[in-house]
Formats: sequence, structure tokens, C-alpha cells
Amino acid sequence: MTTVDVQTTPPLLSGAKPLIGHLLEFRGDRQALFRRGFQEHGHVFTIKLGPQPVAVLIGPDNQEIFFMQTDERLNIAKPYKFLEATFGQVLFIAPHDVYLRQRPLVLQAFRRQKMMHYVQVMQREVQRWLDSLGESGELELTAAINNLVQQVAGHALMGERFQQQVGPEFWELYEDLSRSLDPVLPPHWPLPRFRRRDQAKARMKEILQPIIAERRRHPEQYDDFLQDFVNQSYPDGAEVEDDVLLALMLGLMFAGHETTAGQAAWTIIQILQNPEYQRLVQEEVDAVLPPGREIDEQAMRRLQHVSWAVRETERLRPSADLLLRHVDEPIEAGGYQIPAGWRVMVAAEVAHVLPELWQNPERFDPLRYAPGREEHKQHRFSLIGFGGGTHKCLGMNFANNEMMIITALLFQQFELELLTADPEIRRGVGANRPSETWLRYRARQRTAAHEPEEQPEAV
Ligand code: HEM
Repeated sequence: MTTVDVQTTPPLLSGAKPLIGHLLEFRGDRQALFRRGFQEHGHVFTIKLGPQPVAVLIGPDNQEIFFMQTDERLNIAKPYKFLEATFGQVLFIAPHDVYLRQRPLVLQAFRRQKMMHYVQVMQREVQRWLDSLGESGELELTAAINNLVQQVAGHALMGERFQQQVGPEFWELYEDLSRSLDPVLPPHWPLPRFRRRDQAKARMKEILQPIIAERRRHPEQYDDFLQDFVNQSYPDGAEVEDDVLLALMLGLMFAGHETTAGQAAWTIIQILQNPEYQRLVQEEVDAVLPPGREIDEQAMRRLQHVSWAVRETERLRPSADLLLRHVDEPIEAGGYQIPAGWRVMVAAEVAHVLPELWQNPERFDPLRYAPGREEHKQHRFSLIGFGGGTHKCLGMNFANNEMMIITALLFQQFELELLTADPEIRRGVGANRPSETWLRYRARQRTAAHEPEEQPEAV
């Protein structure tokens, strides 16, 4: 247990307005706010969001405290409570006992042996997208990757046939859920977007129920996350309820979709913005994936420059740029006391550019992860794009593989030119993404292996 022997709370950042504190600045440009706090006070300081004091913890030692405290001390569910009306009691937004009941199901679904199957799913969906592009043209990358990641998620979560036949409607309904997210307004107010959220959820349940019934009857015919959850039971032998299955699907769609889409798009953009590194990626892709070569485990391991670019994107363009906890029992950080009732926050975009950890920290330089430099190995909690400790992202390997496959296949098959020189970061409730980004593309070599595939059978 941490000894709390310090009585002073972290210093309050200048500029707090009566009643609203730093709320306007936070909503306007939260990263500028955190950077200002860091310059003014160093690694631990306080901001006020309305009347709520929030201690911002920066630097690997403080981040370790944030991630390694128990859920009893630093509560993860309370700050994310607003998600519950949309997604239900699922994973860390559920009460702690429900979370503990669900977590083994999810861990099981992400087990290592399933990953190669999902790598195949990713490859198939990425190839389908690339085949749809034709020989040359222009595309808006942010929307295109968002759509592609939906295809991969739908296929991996609920199966290829589901994705192709019910997927478009399901994802449209999901958009209604996503648009309803609001960390401020009470979620049951009679607003049109909250009504649409409830209608969308009811319709999604209607769509899923017969599918779940079919999955229970013929478990041997399916191989995806939904089937994994259907096949499992709780330790007392009870089967996983339909409502929980829906909540798990929605929770994983939320956790894994926009986050992955944002970082995947940024990976491509940043490689294209750095021609020297682009050359290294291209040489590697051409060597590891000559035309027609499928991606397998060995190829994944050899795509090192691609994987470093993906990691450098996690550092410089983290989709989840801030994480929150509610303080249920006081903690100490940086020599200050943080009392119960406060909130604590870590801010990846500031944490990831600390000059004491990273050489030339603002520069896109994936070779910093190469043997001989390995800057990320100085501290376990220096890179926090996927969180850390108890709640560390369960989909990290899934997402990293997906981002690598999208990047590798795109560079394998197309020459690309960035038409939007300097896309900006667009911040959302769920995740960040690049602003509209146009690319010009031209096909390199196409082979039989890249011919469009046959359509799968009907459900
Ligand atoms: C680039 C993509 C992704 C990023 C940046 C990301 C980021 C994160 C972060 C920062 C957390 C910790 C939240 C906290 O501590 O407050 C987290 C948790 C989680 N993520 Fe991801 N994630 C990504 C992709 C995925 C995918 C693809 C899935 C699943 C399909 C997924 C499932 C989860 C789950 C289930 C948790 C909760 C773990 C727990 O509390 O036990 N994530 N993610």
C-alpha cells in the first residue's frame, strides 16, 4: 500500500476561471493545456473541470502509479459512467463484480492461438478493399480506413457472412450509438439523439437474437469473437446471457474501431511525410512480401520497419490521448497528496514527448525502437498508448497486427502520394483521427493472388 504522508495537493494551474475552472481551455485544446501545465509546474499539477479537481500525472513513475493502483483506490468505472447508457454494463464500465465476471471471457477470446486466424481475416478484408480501388485514383484516407476497420471488426467479431449481409445496417445503427455519447448531459434526457440511441440498441438486439440462437444450435460452424463468447460459460456453469453478448459486441466495437482506424491512418500519413523512412518501409515490404506472398507469422515478424512505424504512431498520434480515474482512496504521486473525490488523469501526447526519455521527441523517427537505441525500453510505463497495468488494452496485439497489415499491403500494391500535406488531429469522445486526408494512388504489380475473391455463401 502507498504511504500517504504528504499533505499538499498538486499545484493548481494558472488561468482557472470561477465555476468553470479550465473547462473551456480543456474543450478547446486539451493538449495545449497539459503542455502549459507541464511547463508551469512539472510532472504533477491540478486542473479544474468545473468544480472537479483533476490531478494530471506525467512521466513514467507517475504513470506507473496511475496504472498500478487497485480498482478500489482508483476507480475506472466512474469517469466512464456516461458510456453505460450506450453500451450497457460491459467490461470496465460495469460494476467491479460484473467486470471480474466478464474479463476471463474476453481474455479467452483474445488468446494467442486465435490471432493467426484474425490475421487471415484482416488480410482478406484489406485485400478486398485494395481490390476495390482499381488501377489508380484519389481517395480520402481517413474515411476509407475507418470503413475498412469496420469491415475487419465486423468480420472478426461476428463473422464474414454477418458482416456482408447485416453489417451495413448494424454499423449504421452503431453510428447512432456513437453520436449519442456525451460525457456531460444526463443520458436519459428526452433528446432526439438519446431516443435514436435507444431505438438503435433495440434494433441491434432484434438483429442479434436469432443469430445468437443459431450460434447456440450450431457452434461448430462459426469461428469469431461472438462464437467464442457463446461457447463459454461463467465459472458457475451459467451460459453468457444474450444481453451480455450484445454488450460485449458493442463494447469491443467501441474499444477497437475508431482507435485502430485513427492510428492506422496516421501510420500511413506519417510514413508518406517522411520519404527516407518510406524508402526503408518499401524495401522491407518488397523483400518480405513479393507479389502474391501471403502474410503469415514469419512475415509479420520480419516486417520490423512497419512495426516500428506503427509504434511511433502510437507515441506521436495516440488515439486515446487521455485516460481518467476517480480517486476512491487517497494516493500520493510526485510528493503530493491526491485526496478521495478527486480525479487523476494521464495525458499520452505530453508523456510521449518527454526529452528525458526520447531523442528529438517531436520527430517521427521509428528507428528509435531499433536494436542499439530501444528508447522505449527505459521504463515500462513510458509508452502508454494502450494504457498499462490491470486495464491495459486487451486488443493491443490485434490492433497492432491490423495496422501493420493495412500498411504493408497498401505499400506492397500501390504507389502513393500524399495530397493533403499536413492533416490535423481531430479529437473525438472515443478516439482521435486525422482530418480529411487525400491520397493519389497507382497500382504497382497485381498478381493472381490479388484477384478479387469469390463471395461467401449466404447466411
Ligand atoms: C490502436 C488501437 C487501440 C488503442 C489505441 C487502444 C487503447 C486502449 C487503452 C488506452 C486502454 C486502457 C483504458 C484505460 O486504462 O482507461 C484500452 C483498453 C481496452 N481495449 Fe483497447 N485500444 C485499441 C484497440 C483495441 C481493440 C482492437 C480492441 C478489441 C477488439 C480493444 C479492446 C480493449 C479492451 C477490452 C480494453 C479494456 C481492458 C480492461 O479494462 O480490462 N482495444 N485500449
